[in-house]
Amino acid sequence: NKKRHRADDTSSARMTASQPQVLSVQRYLYEKDFPLYKQPIEIGFFSLDSQRRFYNDDRQLRYYVEAESSPNFNLRDGYRDRYIKRDESIKEKLDHMLQWILENRGKVEMAPKVEGASASSRHLKFDFVTWRGHLTKILTTPYETHEGWLLAVTLFQGTHYISEVETEAARREREDRSARHEEMTYWGYKFEQYMCADEPGGRPDSGGTVNTNEAYCTVVQTRLTDHHLLFSGEVDCKDNGSPLKTAPGCYIELKTSLEICNPKQQSNFLRFKLLKWWAQSFLPGVPRIVAGFRNNSGYVVSTQTYETGKISQMIKAEQNCWRPTVCMNFCAEFLSFIKKVVILDDPRVVYLFSWDPFKDVCYSVHRDSEYSFLPNWYVEEMR
Ligand code: A3P
Ligand code: MG
Ligand code: MG
Repeated sequence: NKKRHRADDTSSARMTASQPQVLSVQRYLYEKDFPLYKQPIEIGFFSLDSQRRFYNDDRQLRYYVEAESSPNFNLRDGYRDRYIKRDESIKEKLDHMLQWILENRGKVEMAPKVEGASASSRHLKFDFVTWRGHLTKILTTPYETHEGWLLAVTLFQGTHYISEVETEAARREREDRSARHEEMTYWGYKFEQYMCADEPGGRPDSGGTVNTNEAYCTVVQTRLTDHHLLFSGEVDCKDNGSPLKTAPGCYIELKTSLEICNPKQQSNFLRFKLLKWWAQSFLPGVPRIVAGFRNNSGYVVSTQTYETGKISQMIKAEQNCWRPTVCMNFCAEFLSFIKKVVILDDPRVVYLFSWDPFKDVCYSVHRDSEYSFLPNWYVEEMR
């Protein structure tokens, strides 16, 4: 009963003395007006090459090539002999973002105070630094029923750094992936190859090698309620057909999905898949998602463009569907919870936030543990 819950529980964060211990994920707590979310602004980008080396430039950016109306893209092509897979057992944590920050300090640091300005230990003008993918997980938490998460948070010079820790369940899932699942992971990347050219005005090279080490990442700044955010996310391609638009407005997210053949599949698509697609693209302000619909044999037989900003309308008629406002309000409250809980400003301390479906968010504190993730090269350079 909603009313009784509301009367009992005035706050989503339950307090003991003055420190909140847990945060509730129950949806009704977040059914409020849509919170302020400023239009994300791209303040930089970086590339990772075929050997996962970092470059402070856009050399890995690819360009969107519209598919013909009835494509017949074979997503299985090249899986055996033209696929180089990134080693997912290597945990890069926030390292590439931190490297970008060090090479772009002028864009992210607070302007020095006029009086008594000191060059050392200037602070970032952000409350949070993280990956877009971590924020996507937070946004979808109120609707997630299968996978929990672990998020490590370190407060350093006034900024909260958030870095994911792989759960035991996720590690087992990764190590026990079936051959079919392994191949289907390739399909998403193969679709990108059919839809992108390396140069503006170029053609896709479907005979090339798919190398999932390669990435182009945008770095955006934005604000959610009173939280100033700096995050980075991988971008699939740029649409040069809209040359007036600046990033992130010119970016396109590519996706694959099973063809929709019956009302049950349509409902699942709206309730589960579009939630993930929306959260991922809404966060960095990517306005369009191009989906390739595939059959069970791995052929893309049609494509469809979705406007990120219209997805909330598309799902309105669906029963028991998700709501963007719940996702965003939960995220804002979780970030507030982090600010209340994480008080030790120390690069060696990690507050480990954990969540499992149907439970509250809780946390534990660790000093000099396996969870520490801010590297010395970053800490020393920033001090
Ligand atoms: P699809 O998006 O077509 O599923 P992204 O869409 O985020 O650009 O990611 C590209 C592809 O990487 C995905 O294609 C999918 O094949 C794979 N991928 C992304 N996230 C994944 C995950 N959590 N587990 C397995 N594969 C994933
Ligand atoms: Mg991608
Ligand atoms: Mg994609």
